[in-house]
Amino acid sequence: MALWGARFSRKPTDAVFALSQSVSFDWRLAPYDLRSSLAHLSVLEKASLLSKDDAAKIRTALKELLTEVASGKFAPSSHDEDVHSALERGLTEKLGSLGGSLRAGRSRNDQVTTDLRLFAIDHMLGLAQMLIELNEVILKKAAEYVDDAAPGFTHIQHAQPVSFGHEIAKHAHAFARDVDRIQDWLQRTSVNSLGAGALSGSSLQLDPEFVAKNLGFVKSFENSIDAVSDRDYVAEALFITSLIGVHLSRIGEEWTLLGSTEFSWAKIADEYSTGSSIMPQKKNPDMAELARGKAGRLIGNLVSVLTMLKGLPFAYNRDLQEDKEPLFDSLDTLALVIPAVSGMIATTNFDREKMKLSAPTGFSLATEIADYLVRKNVPFAQAHEAAGACVALCEKLSCELHELSDDQFAGIHSTLDPKIREVLAVQGAIASRTTAGGTAPSQVSNQISNALAKTSDSRREIANKIKAFSEMMSA
Ligand code: ARG
Repeated sequence: MALWGARFSRKPTDAVFALSQSVSFDWRLAPYDLRSSLAHLSVLEKASLLSKDDAAKIRTALKELLTEVASGKFAPSSHDEDVHSALERGLTEKLGSLGGSLRAGRSRNDQVTTDLRLFAIDHMLGLAQMLIELNEVILKKAAEYVDDAAPGFTHIQHAQPVSFGHEIAKHAHAFARDVDRIQDWLQRTSVNSLGAGALSGSSLQLDPEFVAKNLGFVKSFENSIDAVSDRDYVAEALFITSLIGVHLSRIGEEWTLLGSTEFSWAKIADEYSTGSSIMPQKKNPDMAELARGKAGRLIGNLVSVLTMLKGLPFAYNRDLQEDKEPLFDSLDTLALVIPAVSGMIATTNFDREKMKLSAPTGFSLATEIADYLVRKNVPFAQAHEAAGACVALCEKLSCELHELSDDQFAGIHSTLDPKIREVLAVQGAIASRTTAGGTAPSQVSNQISNALAKTSDSRREIANKIKAFSEMMSA
Protein backbone atom coordinates (compact mmCIF):
# COMPACT_ATOMS: atom_id res chain seq x y z
CA MET A 1 0.00 0.00 0.00
CA ALA A 2 1.20 3.55 -0.74
CA LEU A 3 0.66 6.30 1.81
CA TRP A 4 0.41 8.97 -0.88
CA GLY A 5 -0.85 9.36 -4.45
CA ALA A 6 -3.79 11.80 -4.62
CA ARG A 7 -1.84 14.57 -6.31
CA PHE A 8 -0.38 12.27 -8.98
CA SER A 9 -2.04 11.41 -12.27
CA ARG A 10 0.16 8.40 -13.01
CA LYS A 11 1.49 5.62 -10.79
CA PRO A 12 5.20 5.01 -10.27
CA THR A 13 6.75 2.64 -12.79
CA ASP A 14 8.02 -0.77 -11.72
CA ALA A 15 11.60 0.53 -11.80
CA VAL A 16 10.68 3.43 -9.52
CA PHE A 17 8.95 1.13 -7.07
CA ALA A 18 11.83 -1.35 -7.15
CA LEU A 19 14.35 1.35 -6.28
CA SER A 20 12.30 3.14 -3.66
CA GLN A 21 10.80 0.23 -1.74
CA SER A 22 12.52 -0.55 1.55
CA VAL A 23 10.12 -3.13 2.94
CA SER A 24 12.41 -5.92 1.75
CA PHE A 25 14.89 -4.88 4.46
CA ASP A 26 13.08 -2.55 6.89
CA TRP A 27 10.39 -5.10 7.82
CA ARG A 28 12.50 -6.02 10.85
CA LEU A 29 11.59 -2.60 12.28
CA ALA A 30 7.94 -3.74 12.52
CA PRO A 31 7.82 -4.45 16.30
CA TYR A 32 9.46 -1.09 17.05
CA ASP A 33 7.13 0.69 14.63
CA LEU A 34 4.08 -0.85 16.30
CA ARG A 35 5.40 0.05 19.73
CA SER A 36 6.00 3.67 18.77
CA SER A 37 2.53 3.74 17.19
CA LEU A 38 1.09 2.77 20.58
CA ALA A 39 2.89 5.75 22.14
CA HIS A 40 1.62 8.09 19.39
CA LEU A 41 -1.89 6.74 19.86
CA SER A 42 -1.82 7.68 23.56
CA VAL A 43 -0.71 11.18 22.63
CA LEU A 44 -3.56 11.61 20.12
CA GLU A 45 -6.02 10.33 22.70
CA LYS A 46 -4.64 12.65 25.41
CA ALA A 47 -5.03 15.60 23.02
CA SER A 48 -8.65 14.53 22.38
CA LEU A 49 -7.88 14.03 18.72
CA LEU A 50 -9.25 10.50 19.04
CA SER A 51 -12.23 9.40 21.11
CA LYS A 52 -11.64 6.89 23.90
CA ASP A 53 -13.58 4.30 21.92
CA ASP A 54 -11.64 4.74 18.72
CA ALA A 55 -8.35 4.79 20.62
CA ALA A 56 -9.27 1.51 22.33
CA LYS A 57 -10.08 -0.09 18.96
CA ILE A 58 -6.80 1.04 17.47
CA ARG A 59 -4.86 -0.12 20.54
CA THR A 60 -6.39 -3.59 20.30
CA ALA A 61 -5.64 -3.77 16.57
CA LEU A 62 -2.03 -2.66 17.09
CA LYS A 63 -1.53 -5.33 19.76
CA GLU A 64 -3.06 -7.96 17.48
CA LEU A 65 -0.70 -6.88 14.73
CA LEU A 66 2.25 -7.23 17.12
CA THR A 67 1.34 -10.87 17.70
CA GLU A 68 0.58 -11.50 14.03
CA VAL A 69 3.87 -9.96 12.94
CA ALA A 70 5.75 -12.13 15.45
CA SER A 71 4.01 -15.31 14.27
CA GLY A 72 4.29 -14.39 10.57
CA LYS A 73 0.50 -14.32 10.17
CA PHE A 74 0.78 -10.72 9.02
CA ALA A 75 3.53 -10.10 6.46
CA PRO A 76 4.31 -7.32 4.01
CA SER A 77 3.00 -7.65 0.46
CA SER A 78 4.96 -6.88 -2.68
CA HIS A 79 2.93 -3.66 -3.03
CA ASP A 80 3.91 -2.23 0.34
CA GLU A 81 6.54 0.48 0.00
CA ASP A 82 7.99 0.22 3.48
CA VAL A 83 7.34 -1.12 6.97
CA HIS A 84 5.21 1.91 7.86
CA SER A 85 2.96 1.49 4.80
CA ALA A 86 2.63 -2.24 5.37
CA LEU A 87 1.55 -1.79 8.98
CA GLU A 88 -0.92 0.96 8.11
CA ARG A 89 -2.40 -1.44 5.56
CA GLY A 90 -2.67 -4.05 8.30
CA LEU A 91 -4.44 -1.57 10.56
CA THR A 92 -6.79 -0.45 7.79
CA GLU A 93 -7.66 -4.06 6.93
CA LYS A 94 -8.75 -4.48 10.55
CA LEU A 95 -10.39 -1.09 11.17
CA GLY A 96 -11.33 0.43 7.82
CA SER A 97 -10.67 4.16 7.52
CA LEU A 98 -10.02 4.46 11.27
CA GLY A 99 -6.73 2.63 10.54
CA GLY A 100 -5.43 5.79 8.87
CA SER A 101 -5.88 7.97 11.99
CA LEU A 102 -2.39 7.48 13.37
CA ARG A 103 -0.85 9.52 10.61
CA ALA A 104 -2.14 12.69 12.30
CA GLY A 105 0.81 14.77 13.46
CA ARG A 106 3.26 12.06 12.42
CA SER A 107 5.45 11.72 9.37
CA ARG A 108 7.50 8.75 8.28
CA ASN A 109 10.44 11.09 8.78
CA ASP A 110 10.09 11.20 12.57
CA GLN A 111 8.64 7.69 12.66
CA VAL A 112 11.49 5.91 10.87
CA THR A 113 14.25 7.41 13.00
CA THR A 114 12.33 6.63 16.19
CA ASP A 115 11.96 3.02 15.05
CA LEU A 116 15.61 2.81 14.10
CA ARG A 117 16.77 4.22 17.43
CA LEU A 118 14.70 1.60 19.25
CA PHE A 119 16.07 -1.14 17.00
CA ALA A 120 19.64 0.08 17.48
CA ILE A 121 19.32 0.31 21.27
CA ASP A 122 17.83 -3.19 21.46
CA HIS A 123 20.57 -4.72 19.32
CA MET A 124 23.50 -2.78 20.75
CA LEU A 125 22.46 -3.96 24.22
CA GLY A 126 22.46 -7.51 22.87
CA LEU A 127 25.89 -6.88 21.41
CA ALA A 128 27.19 -5.64 24.77
CA GLN A 129 25.90 -8.83 26.35
CA MET A 130 27.72 -10.96 23.74
CA LEU A 131 30.95 -9.07 24.42
CA ILE A 132 30.60 -9.63 28.14
CA GLU A 133 30.19 -13.37 27.57
CA LEU A 134 33.19 -13.34 25.24
CA ASN A 135 35.24 -11.60 27.92
CA GLU A 136 34.34 -14.23 30.49
CA VAL A 137 35.68 -16.88 28.09
CA ILE A 138 38.86 -14.91 27.39
CA LEU A 139 39.58 -14.31 31.08
CA LYS A 140 38.95 -17.95 31.97
CA LYS A 141 41.39 -19.06 29.27
CA ALA A 142 43.91 -16.43 30.42
CA ALA A 143 43.74 -17.74 34.00
CA GLU A 144 44.83 -21.20 32.78
CA TYR A 145 48.12 -19.80 31.48
CA VAL A 146 49.14 -17.21 34.10
CA ASP A 147 52.20 -19.22 35.16
CA ASP A 148 53.28 -20.20 31.66
CA ALA A 149 56.18 -18.31 30.13
CA ALA A 150 56.23 -17.34 26.49
CA PRO A 151 58.22 -14.93 24.39
CA GLY A 152 56.52 -11.53 24.18
CA PHE A 153 56.84 -9.78 20.83
CA THR A 154 57.35 -6.38 19.31
CA HIS A 155 57.58 -6.25 15.50
CA ILE A 156 56.84 -10.03 15.71
CA GLN A 157 60.40 -10.39 17.02
CA HIS A 158 61.16 -11.80 20.45
CA ALA A 159 61.17 -8.83 22.81
CA GLN A 160 60.84 -9.85 26.48
CA PRO A 161 59.41 -13.00 28.04
CA VAL A 162 55.87 -12.68 29.40
CA SER A 163 53.23 -14.67 31.18
CA PHE A 164 51.09 -16.20 28.43
CA GLY A 165 47.98 -15.51 30.54
CA HIS A 166 48.92 -11.83 30.26
CA GLU A 167 48.89 -12.17 26.47
CA ILE A 168 45.46 -13.76 26.36
CA ALA A 169 43.93 -11.42 28.93
CA LYS A 170 44.91 -8.30 26.96
CA HIS A 171 42.03 -8.90 24.53
CA ALA A 172 39.48 -8.65 27.33
CA HIS A 173 40.52 -5.06 28.03
CA ALA A 174 39.80 -4.04 24.44
CA PHE A 175 36.31 -5.56 24.56
CA ALA A 176 35.64 -4.02 27.99
CA ARG A 177 36.27 -0.61 26.39
CA ASP A 178 33.82 -1.56 23.63
CA VAL A 179 31.17 -2.34 26.25
CA ASP A 180 31.88 1.08 27.85
CA ARG A 181 31.56 2.68 24.43
CA ILE A 182 28.13 1.09 23.95
CA GLN A 183 26.97 2.41 27.34
CA ASP A 184 28.26 5.84 26.46
CA TRP A 185 26.60 5.71 23.01
CA LEU A 186 23.35 4.79 24.68
CA GLN A 187 23.29 8.11 26.56
CA ARG A 188 23.36 10.07 23.31
CA THR A 189 21.08 7.71 21.39
CA SER A 190 18.33 7.52 23.97
CA VAL A 191 16.46 10.51 22.51
CA ASN A 192 12.89 10.54 21.25
CA SER A 193 12.28 11.98 17.75
CA LEU A 194 8.55 11.34 17.52
CA GLY A 195 6.66 14.63 17.44
CA ALA A 196 9.16 16.29 15.12
CA GLY A 197 6.72 15.57 12.28
CA ALA A 198 8.07 15.94 8.76
CA LEU A 199 10.55 18.55 10.04
CA SER A 200 8.87 21.41 11.87
CA GLY A 201 6.93 19.88 14.75
CA SER A 202 3.15 19.94 14.82
CA SER A 203 0.20 22.25 15.35
CA LEU A 204 -1.65 19.42 17.09
CA GLN A 205 -1.23 19.13 20.85
CA LEU A 206 1.44 16.45 20.70
CA ASP A 207 3.59 15.63 23.70
CA PRO A 208 7.13 14.48 22.75
CA GLU A 209 8.20 14.36 26.42
CA PHE A 210 5.39 11.91 27.13
CA VAL A 211 6.49 9.80 24.15
CA ALA A 212 10.08 9.88 25.41
CA LYS A 213 9.01 8.51 28.81
CA ASN A 214 6.62 6.02 27.27
CA LEU A 215 9.31 4.58 24.98
CA GLY A 216 12.00 4.55 27.67
CA PHE A 217 14.12 7.31 26.11
CA VAL A 218 16.16 9.49 28.46
CA LYS A 219 14.83 12.68 26.82
CA SER A 220 13.14 14.14 23.79
CA PHE A 221 14.55 16.10 20.84
CA GLU A 222 15.41 19.78 21.19
CA ASN A 223 15.25 20.78 17.53
CA SER A 224 12.72 19.10 15.24
CA ILE A 225 14.80 19.66 12.08
CA ASP A 226 17.81 18.04 13.72
CA ALA A 227 15.60 15.24 15.06
CA VAL A 228 14.63 14.02 11.57
CA SER A 229 18.09 14.60 10.05
CA ASP A 230 20.31 13.18 12.78
CA ARG A 231 21.87 9.80 12.08
CA ASP A 232 24.88 10.32 14.35
CA TYR A 233 23.70 7.36 16.39
CA VAL A 234 23.94 5.12 13.31
CA ALA A 235 27.42 6.37 12.42
CA GLU A 236 28.59 6.02 16.02
CA ALA A 237 27.13 2.53 16.30
CA LEU A 238 28.95 1.61 13.11
CA PHE A 239 32.20 3.00 14.47
CA ILE A 240 31.76 0.89 17.60
CA THR A 241 30.95 -2.22 15.57
CA SER A 242 33.95 -1.51 13.31
CA LEU A 243 36.26 -1.23 16.27
CA ILE A 244 34.88 -4.47 17.71
CA GLY A 245 35.58 -5.99 14.29
CA VAL A 246 39.13 -4.67 14.43
CA HIS A 247 39.60 -6.17 17.91
CA LEU A 248 38.23 -9.52 16.69
CA SER A 249 40.49 -9.36 13.65
CA ARG A 250 43.55 -9.06 15.88
CA ILE A 251 42.51 -12.22 17.72
CA GLY A 252 41.97 -13.85 14.31
CA GLU A 253 45.47 -12.91 13.19
CA GLU A 254 47.02 -14.07 16.45
CA TRP A 255 45.29 -17.45 16.41
CA THR A 256 46.14 -17.98 12.73
CA LEU A 257 49.79 -17.14 13.30
CA LEU A 258 50.19 -19.10 16.54
CA GLY A 259 48.48 -22.11 14.95
CA SER A 260 50.84 -22.16 11.96
CA THR A 261 53.30 -25.07 11.66
CA GLU A 262 56.21 -22.70 12.33
CA PHE A 263 54.75 -21.62 15.70
CA SER A 264 52.64 -24.67 16.57
CA TRP A 265 51.66 -23.03 19.87
CA ALA A 266 47.90 -22.95 19.35
CA LYS A 267 45.99 -26.18 18.87
CA ILE A 268 42.61 -25.07 17.58
CA ALA A 269 39.94 -27.70 18.29
CA ASP A 270 38.64 -29.78 15.38
CA GLU A 271 35.12 -28.41 15.70
CA TYR A 272 36.46 -24.88 15.18
CA SER A 273 38.62 -25.80 12.19
CA THR A 274 37.85 -26.68 8.59
CA GLY A 275 39.44 -28.94 5.98
CA SER A 276 40.61 -28.62 2.40
CA SER A 277 38.84 -30.14 -0.59
CA ILE A 278 42.12 -31.19 -2.18
CA MET A 279 44.77 -31.48 0.57
CA PRO A 280 43.61 -34.21 2.96
CA GLN A 281 46.10 -33.28 5.69
CA LYS A 282 44.86 -29.69 6.05
CA LYS A 283 43.27 -28.30 9.19
CA ASN A 284 42.63 -24.63 8.57
CA PRO A 285 41.85 -21.89 11.12
CA ASP A 286 38.90 -20.55 9.07
CA MET A 287 37.05 -19.10 12.09
CA ALA A 288 40.08 -17.00 12.94
CA GLU A 289 40.47 -15.94 9.32
CA LEU A 290 36.79 -15.02 8.98
CA ALA A 291 37.00 -13.01 12.21
CA ARG A 292 39.92 -11.17 10.60
CA GLY A 293 38.20 -10.82 7.22
CA LYS A 294 34.83 -9.57 8.49
CA ALA A 295 36.49 -6.42 9.80
CA GLY A 296 36.60 -5.27 6.17
CA ARG A 297 32.84 -5.22 5.72
CA LEU A 298 32.26 -3.72 9.18
CA ILE A 299 34.55 -0.80 8.34
CA GLY A 300 32.96 -0.61 4.89
CA ASN A 301 29.51 -0.17 6.46
CA LEU A 302 30.79 2.73 8.57
CA VAL A 303 32.36 4.39 5.53
CA SER A 304 29.20 3.90 3.50
CA VAL A 305 27.02 5.68 6.07
CA LEU A 306 29.49 8.51 6.67
CA THR A 307 29.76 9.03 2.92
CA MET A 308 25.97 9.04 2.54
CA LEU A 309 25.69 11.66 5.32
CA LYS A 310 28.48 13.88 4.04
CA GLY A 311 27.08 17.10 2.57
CA LEU A 312 23.50 15.85 2.95
CA PRO A 313 21.13 18.83 3.19
CA PHE A 314 18.80 19.08 6.17
CA ALA A 315 16.16 17.82 6.96
CA TYR A 316 14.90 14.46 5.60
CA ASN A 317 16.23 13.29 2.25
CA ARG A 318 15.59 9.90 0.77
CA ASP A 319 19.32 9.20 0.89
CA LEU A 320 18.72 8.51 4.58
CA GLN A 321 16.97 5.26 3.66
CA GLU A 322 20.51 3.97 3.07
CA ASP A 323 21.19 4.11 6.83
CA LYS A 324 19.52 0.79 7.60
CA GLU A 325 21.19 -2.01 5.67
CA PRO A 326 24.73 -1.19 6.82
CA LEU A 327 23.57 -1.07 10.45
CA PHE A 328 21.64 -4.32 10.12
CA ASP A 329 24.54 -5.99 8.36
CA SER A 330 27.12 -4.96 10.96
CA LEU A 331 24.98 -6.15 13.85
CA ASP A 332 24.15 -9.43 12.06
CA THR A 333 27.81 -9.96 11.20
CA LEU A 334 28.96 -9.57 14.80
CA ALA A 335 26.17 -11.86 16.00
CA LEU A 336 27.70 -14.54 13.75
CA VAL A 337 31.35 -13.87 14.50
CA ILE A 338 31.37 -13.40 18.29
CA PRO A 339 29.94 -16.82 19.29
CA ALA A 340 32.30 -18.59 16.84
CA VAL A 341 35.35 -16.71 18.15
CA SER A 342 34.26 -17.29 21.71
CA GLY A 343 33.96 -21.06 21.12
CA MET A 344 37.29 -21.11 19.31
CA ILE A 345 39.04 -19.43 22.24
CA ALA A 346 37.38 -21.66 24.83
CA THR A 347 38.52 -24.83 23.06
CA THR A 348 42.05 -23.83 21.99
CA ASN A 349 44.94 -25.35 23.89
CA PHE A 350 48.42 -23.92 23.84
CA ASP A 351 51.65 -25.90 23.93
CA ARG A 352 53.11 -24.83 27.28
CA GLU A 353 56.43 -26.63 26.78
CA LYS A 354 57.07 -25.14 23.36
CA MET A 355 56.31 -21.61 24.56
CA LYS A 356 58.53 -22.05 27.61
CA LEU A 357 61.47 -23.33 25.55
CA SER A 358 61.03 -20.49 23.12
CA ALA A 359 60.77 -17.79 25.82
CA PRO A 360 64.49 -17.09 26.41
CA THR A 361 65.53 -17.48 22.76
CA GLY A 362 66.17 -14.55 20.46
CA PHE A 363 68.05 -12.86 23.34
CA SER A 364 64.73 -11.88 24.94
CA LEU A 365 66.52 -11.52 28.31
CA ALA A 366 68.90 -8.80 27.09
CA THR A 367 66.85 -6.10 28.83
CA GLU A 368 67.39 -8.00 32.11
CA ILE A 369 71.14 -7.43 31.76
CA ALA A 370 70.64 -3.70 31.21
CA ASP A 371 68.19 -3.47 34.17
CA TYR A 372 70.68 -5.42 36.37
CA LEU A 373 73.35 -2.82 35.63
CA VAL A 374 70.92 0.05 36.24
CA ARG A 375 70.14 -1.41 39.68
CA LYS A 376 73.90 -1.20 40.28
CA ASN A 377 73.79 2.51 39.36
CA VAL A 378 75.25 2.18 35.88
CA PRO A 379 73.67 4.89 33.65
CA PHE A 380 71.11 3.28 31.33
CA ALA A 381 72.81 4.32 28.10
CA GLN A 382 75.97 2.49 29.24
CA ALA A 383 73.94 -0.49 30.48
CA HIS A 384 72.12 -0.72 27.12
CA GLU A 385 75.48 -0.67 25.35
CA ALA A 386 76.87 -3.47 27.54
CA ALA A 387 73.77 -5.66 27.08
CA GLY A 388 74.00 -5.06 23.32
CA ALA A 389 77.66 -6.13 23.41
CA CYS A 390 76.64 -9.38 25.17
CA VAL A 391 74.15 -10.07 22.35
CA ALA A 392 76.75 -9.29 19.69
CA LEU A 393 79.21 -11.70 21.35
CA CYS A 394 76.55 -14.43 21.52
CA GLU A 395 75.78 -13.95 17.85
CA LYS A 396 79.48 -14.25 17.04
CA LEU A 397 79.82 -17.43 19.14
CA SER A 398 76.40 -18.82 18.15
CA CYS A 399 75.27 -19.21 21.76
CA GLU A 400 72.56 -17.89 24.13
CA LEU A 401 73.14 -15.19 26.78
CA HIS A 402 73.27 -17.63 29.73
CA GLU A 403 75.98 -19.60 27.92
CA LEU A 404 78.52 -16.74 28.15
CA SER A 405 81.23 -17.38 30.74
CA ASP A 406 81.80 -15.23 33.85
CA ASP A 407 84.96 -13.89 32.23
CA GLN A 408 83.17 -13.00 29.05
CA PHE A 409 80.55 -11.03 31.04
CA ALA A 410 83.19 -9.28 33.13
CA GLY A 411 85.14 -8.48 29.99
CA ILE A 412 82.17 -6.61 28.57
CA HIS A 413 81.45 -4.60 31.75
CA SER A 414 83.21 -4.89 35.10
CA THR A 415 79.86 -4.67 36.95
CA LEU A 416 78.58 -7.84 35.20
CA ASP A 417 79.45 -10.25 38.05
CA PRO A 418 78.36 -13.94 38.19
CA LYS A 419 75.10 -12.93 39.94
CA ILE A 420 73.92 -11.79 36.52
CA ARG A 421 72.88 -15.43 35.94
CA GLU A 422 70.02 -15.02 38.40
CA VAL A 423 68.22 -12.60 36.09
CA LEU A 424 68.93 -14.69 33.03
CA ALA A 425 66.25 -17.18 34.04
CA VAL A 426 62.89 -16.69 32.33
CA GLN A 427 60.62 -17.28 35.34
CA GLY A 428 62.68 -14.88 37.48
CA ALA A 429 62.62 -12.23 34.77
CA ILE A 430 58.85 -12.51 34.41
CA ALA A 431 58.27 -12.56 38.17
CA SER A 432 60.34 -9.40 38.59
CA ARG A 433 58.03 -7.28 36.39
CA THR A 434 55.72 -6.37 39.24
CA THR A 435 54.63 -2.98 37.90
CA ALA A 436 50.83 -2.68 38.25
CA GLY A 437 49.54 -4.08 34.96
CA GLY A 438 52.88 -5.80 34.32
CA THR A 439 53.60 -9.40 33.42
CA ALA A 440 54.56 -10.86 36.85
CA PRO A 441 52.08 -13.70 37.48
CA SER A 442 51.00 -12.05 40.76
CA GLN A 443 50.09 -8.93 38.77
CA VAL A 444 48.42 -10.86 35.96
CA SER A 445 46.23 -12.68 38.48
CA ASN A 446 45.18 -9.29 39.90
CA GLN A 447 44.44 -7.96 36.44
CA ILE A 448 42.28 -10.98 35.67
CA SER A 449 40.29 -10.77 38.89
CA ASN A 450 39.77 -7.01 38.47
CA ALA A 451 38.67 -7.53 34.88
CA LEU A 452 36.28 -10.29 35.97
CA ALA A 453 34.80 -8.02 38.64
CA LYS A 454 34.29 -5.26 36.06
CA THR A 455 32.74 -7.80 33.69
CA SER A 456 30.20 -8.88 36.27
CA ASP A 457 29.33 -5.22 37.03
CA SER A 458 28.78 -4.62 33.32
CA ARG A 459 26.78 -7.83 33.05
CA ARG A 460 24.43 -6.58 35.76
CA GLU A 461 24.08 -3.09 34.27
CA ILE A 462 23.40 -4.39 30.77
CA ALA A 463 20.96 -7.03 32.04
CA ASN A 464 18.98 -4.28 33.84
CA LYS A 465 18.84 -2.20 30.68
CA ILE A 466 17.75 -5.19 28.60
CA LYS A 467 15.03 -5.96 31.13
CA ALA A 468 13.78 -2.36 31.13
CA PHE A 469 13.80 -2.32 27.32
CA SER A 470 11.83 -5.52 26.98
CA GLU A 471 9.32 -4.33 29.60
CA MET A 472 8.88 -1.12 27.57
CA MET A 473 8.39 -3.14 24.38
CA SER A 474 5.70 -5.32 25.90
CA ALA A 475 3.88 -2.46 27.67
N1 ARG B 1 11.59 4.17 3.97
C1 ARG B 1 11.93 5.50 4.35
C2 ARG B 1 13.32 5.52 5.02
O1 ARG B 1 13.76 4.50 5.36
C3 ARG B 1 10.92 6.02 5.30
C4 ARG B 1 10.81 7.50 5.31
C5 ARG B 1 10.25 7.98 4.02
N2 ARG B 1 9.98 9.38 4.08
C6 ARG B 1 9.73 10.08 2.98
N3 ARG B 1 9.47 11.35 3.13
N4 ARG B 1 9.69 9.56 1.79
O2 ARG B 1 13.94 6.53 5.16
